Amino acid sequence: MPHRWDDTWQTLLERAQQAIHLSYAPYSNYHVGCACLLEDGTILQGANVENASFPLSMCAERIALYTALIQHPAKVIRRLCILSKPSSLLTPCGACRQVLFEIEWRQQAAISILCYKDSKHYHIYPSAHSLLPDAFSPSILSR
Ligand code: THU
Repeated sequence: MPHRWDDTWQTLLERAQQAIHLSYAPYSNYHVGCACLLEDGTILQGANVENASFPLSMCAERIALYTALIQHPAKVIRRLCILSKPSSLLTPCGACRQVLFEIEWRQQAAISILCYKDSKHYHIYPSAHSLLPDAFSPSILSR
């Protein structure tokens, strides 16, 4: 049951916590760590990387997701975990939701998403679709 807390979420959480230390966020001082789990148990990490030219900054989620897609192109992404320092109950930004949605659409399998602040404040979304209802979908382009 990926929507409930289990040992796999605990492992993914710890890898996301480690990833926070890879964050480069001297402008916002908001450090985000991410870890995503592939179908074979492989875990990929991501952290936000900022730039003095602010719009060039990249979210932790997209770094982890794109790493997974390029390094493990044939594997389904099952779960993703994000957290921040200072800790807050952050949810993926709109751009990351759109990217998550398209990966889910491509692989035809849901990605469960854990947004974690602490052991009392976290939420597991069952899919990217649940975070972005009525999303702009690739299917709209292929009429
Ligand atoms: N950030 C993420 O890494 N993921 C999100 O979903 C929201 C925002 C980063 C981008 C920027 O480096 C910092 O958090 C503040 O917006």
